[in-house]
Amino acid sequence: MSAPNDPHRPFVEARDIWRTLPLGDKVIEILRGISLSVAAGEAVALTGPSGSGKSTLLGIIAGLDSPSSGQILIDGTDITQMGEGQLARLRNQKVGVVFQSFNLIPTLTALENVALPLYVHRERRHATQRARELLARVGLSDRSDHRPNQLSGGQQQRVAIARALATAPALVVADEPTGNLDSHSSAQILDLFDRLRHDLALTLIVATHDPRVAARADRVHQLVDGRFVAAGGSV
Ligand SMILES: Nc1ncnc2c1ncn2[C@@H]1O[C@H](COP(=O)(O)OP(=O)(O)OP(=O)(O)O)[C@@H](O)[C@H]1O
Ligand SMILES: [Mg+2]
Repeated sequence: MSAPNDPHRPFVEARDIWRTLPLGDKVIEILRGISLSVAAGEAVALTGPSGSGKSTLLGIIAGLDSPSSGQILIDGTDITQMGEGQLARLRNQKVGVVFQSFNLIPTLTALENVALPLYVHRERRHATQRARELLARVGLSDRSDHRPNQLSGGQQQRVAIARALATAPALVVADEPTGNLDSHSSAQILDLFDRLRHDLALTLIVATHDPRVAARADRVHQLVDGRFVAAGGSV
């Protein structure tokens, strides 16, 4: 185990993660012993066939789901030992999540969607100003009063990315962020991620079927049946 102030300590560490689910009188093994280390500022892509466990693993890393066994350390803290309140705080402050289907709140404007995470805990006073800055960063200052159904898919995903960044998390977890987008909008989102990584030193973990997304990552891990395929191709 590394010391708490070790500068080379991974920002995200998954240790022997298993996720099982009872199914009738059987147990299905969704993740089977996943270990992964991601350094601060690194971008890692998870690829693999549908059903191989990518979303499940991302959900566990983001603290949205619990593993059946194993540990997730974020910035040196074991989140699998946290109570729900502590975990909710960590999710809000340290991890931004971006989904394939954007998951914006349809009744709120772009600006209100981006400001929302800032209302969950303190920082209310500056929420609107911060949301404006983030919309500018994703190139949508002129759309701040639009609701999600008045925005294109690519614009909605840019709002969702701005929302994910609202509390200035060091880690962004993205599940098929370009999965619902045409190739032009996908390229814009990928350029945006590159820019954000460069400007904000984000750590990024992204699940994707899209080879163009994987090509931008520092490392690619392939999942098959809940396990990483070892470098060289065998499971
Ligand atoms: N709540 C659940 N109940 C039963 N099975 C589940 C549940 N959630 C996930 N699974 C199963 O876990 C496996 C992994 O699912 P997961 O969504 O993580 O795959 P994925 O790699 O993200 O696939 P895709 O590329 O289609 O998004 C699948 O076989 C799925 O059917
Ligand atoms: Mg998935």
